[in-house]
Amino acid sequence: MNAPFAPKRPLVDTFGRTISYLRISVTDRCDFRCVYCMAEDMVFLPKKDVLSFEEVETIASAFIARGTTKIRLTGGEPLVRRDIMDLVGTLGERIGSGLEELTITTNGSQLAKHAEGLFAAGVRRINVSLDTLNAERFATITRRGRLADVMAGIDAAQAGGLSLKINMVAMRGVNDDEIEPMMAWAHGRGMGLTLIEGMPLGEVGLDRVDTYLPLRELHERLANRYTLTRLAKKTGGPARYDHVAETGGVLGFITPMSHNFCESCNRVRLTATGQLFLCLGQDDQVNLRDALRDGGRAGLDAALDHAMLIKPKGHDFVIDRNAPAPAVARHMSVTGG
Ligand code: 5AD
Ligand code: SF4
Repeated sequence: MNAPFAPKRPLVDTFGRTISYLRISVTDRCDFRCVYCMAEDMVFLPKKDVLSFEEVETIASAFIARGTTKIRLTGGEPLVRRDIMDLVGTLGERIGSGLEELTITTNGSQLAKHAEGLFAAGVRRINVSLDTLNAERFATITRRGRLADVMAGIDAAQAGGLSLKINMVAMRGVNDDEIEPMMAWAHGRGMGLTLIEGMPLGEVGLDRVDTYLPLRELHERLANRYTLTRLAKKTGGPARYDHVAETGGVLGFITPMSHNFCESCNRVRLTATGQLFLCLGQDDQVNLRDALRDGGRAGLDAALDHAMLIKPKGHDFVIDRNAPAPAVARHMSVTGG
């Protein structure tokens, strides 16, 4: 057993929230172009501006030293970044000395190749984003993905000992007829299913008003057909979880639109170019790349102190026909899911 790890100066914001969860977007690029996430013609960040793995590791270390216990790698699609498994390896070595968990959110397209390596590096739980089980619909939603690749990735991940949760963005008229089949499928394979409300992040290829499906309403519908029991389970994320007696599985709900969960926010998000966003739904940020390049570790620590002073109370997402523009101009693929 490792001795308990006592951070020197924990990261606590002005609302008394302790930050213990860092999400790192390792690239804003992706091999898919999901209609609710991206525009067809995305312009990506210049590669020269992207943090080196060494810089990412230094930033991660600064966070771990100050009490971060959980790191999630996201994107874009994290597994499309070249040599990504090198970073997974070095971060994985921190598990047990400060870091408690290293996880990843992936679209699954490259998972068959990397499942074993992830487990070997110490990753135990991963999130796979999947919105449909229908190959044609999958091609339409992702604009360029192949369902069979993702299925092969899921098979490999389960065979490799990883535990999986499926994230499904629930969209009215797009995939809301698949919620029950997805649940039966995921639970039948021993995987959790978490439903997510679409958020107004960036201009995309979908009408967010027409497709908005309030999950509170859906929860009511499901509660009439299934025996749902609220779980106390906390994974550090914003989801609420129900146990479904009929399937024996866990169903999660992420409801940024219909329920504001910001009071218990414990996380911040690092972009591939080193901006630290303090809220998914606000523009407040500090530039950790500059802080590191100009001031080294001391500069980083000072930037983290500053970040705690400006972390906003919460997002104010609205989805409204009359809203002039998305709540936040940047896409989810920049800030990281
Ligand atoms: N609203 C909600 N979820 C989104 N995702 C990407 N863009 C959005 C959005 N605008 C999801 C992906 C993935 C996770 C990282 O975020 O489907 O599951
Ligand atoms: Fe890629 Fe995920 Fe965005 Fe789809 S939702 S385009 S898989 S980053």
